Amino acid sequence: MKILITGANGLLGQKLILLLSHEHDVEVVATSKGKNVNYYDLPEYHFCPLDITDKDQVNQVIEDENPDIIIHTAAMTNVDECEQYKEKCWNVNVVAVEWLLEAAKRQNAFFIHLSTDFVFSGINGPLTEEDKPDPVNYYGKSKMEAELLVQQSGVDYAILRTALVYGIAPTMSRSNIVLWVKESLENGKPIKVVDDQYRTPTLAEDLAQACWLIAKQRAKGIFHISDEEIYTPYEMALLVADHFKLDKTLISRTDSKQFTQPARRPPKTGFIIEKAKKELGYQPHTFQEGLAYMGNHLKKIEKILLP
Ligand SMILES: NC(=O)c1ccc[n+]([C@@H]2O[C@H](COP(=O)([O-])OP(=O)(O)OC[C@H]3O[C@@H](n4cnc5c(N)ncnc54)[C@H](OP(=O)(O)O)[C@@H]3O)[C@@H](O)[C@H]2O)c1
Repeated sequence: MKILITGANGLLGQKLILLLSHEHDVEVVATSKGKNVNYYDLPEYHFCPLDITDKDQVNQVIEDENPDIIIHTAAMTNVDECEQYKEKCWNVNVVAVEWLLEAAKRQNAFFIHLSTDFVFSGINGPLTEEDKPDPVNYYGKSKMEAELLVQQSGVDYAILRTALVYGIAPTMSRSNIVLWVKESLENGKPIKVVDDQYRTPTLAEDLAQACWLIAKQRAKGIFHISDEEIYTPYEMALLVADHFKLDKTLISRTDSKQFTQPARRPPKTGFIIEKAKKELGYQPHTFQEGLAYMGNHLKKIEKILLP
């Protein structure tokens, strides 16, 4: 089975390559805007440069590679930047998806599309796959529009919605809640964390596993993928401090009204993941297990990155 990954240098992209390059019957084609990073010294996998906003490149790469499955992870993921640079956001998160879908259709490839809890308003969380999207910011709007394109494309597809992904990889273009809290406390920096939003966090390795479960089974439809427990960011920050034995007194509780961010956040999302557990056999780590996993992986990465 040949699997082409977009956004291979992103957090999920790197986890997918790590997972899939060890699967004997999988031929991995990693694609990304930047150059190939193979920090783990993985067994050979194929790499192609691919900026998904370049239509000719999309057509050429997908025709040349002729994948059985495309896992589309690439996106403009910074929610505030999406609010500020709407045209760029639309081009990356919507227009490029249309081109990828057209190319996937020509090659008869199964399309696994990554989406987000931010397609929801956050009024009625936790949410099932049946709940109706109603985004409160531009990032959510762009991801919802992309979901509609996928659903109307005529391509066999799975839409995998995920939430608050955390993890560590050798190269990262942006931080996540666990790394932010850990690094701040390690540097003795006081932080204010909101206690009026609710999320089900997702370990990046679990998300990669879910993509693989979907690919193996060619499972069609929408799937909610995250951990099972719901937390506020403040509660997560305390658990991070506990796990890494850091100074909790540096963490103070605040609420969303105290922050002026360019993009509104949905107050309560969180996923009900029964469908993924039942239909895919998805079994996520708890947040505490995820932190332990991440701590161990961090040691491995520190060794890799040592000069
Ligand atoms: N992270 C989360 O908390 C979260 C939550 C819900 C849903 N999701 C969804 O899950 C997916 C994976 O997220 P992630 O955490 O792996 O995000 P990430 O670490 O930000 O990775 C996204 C990747 O997409 C690449 N990209 C951006 N524009 C591109 C372009 N024009 N052509 C090719 N690649 C491009 C980025 O490259 P550059 O860095 O070089 O721009 C980056 O490597 C995304 O679709 C995201 O919307 C993520």
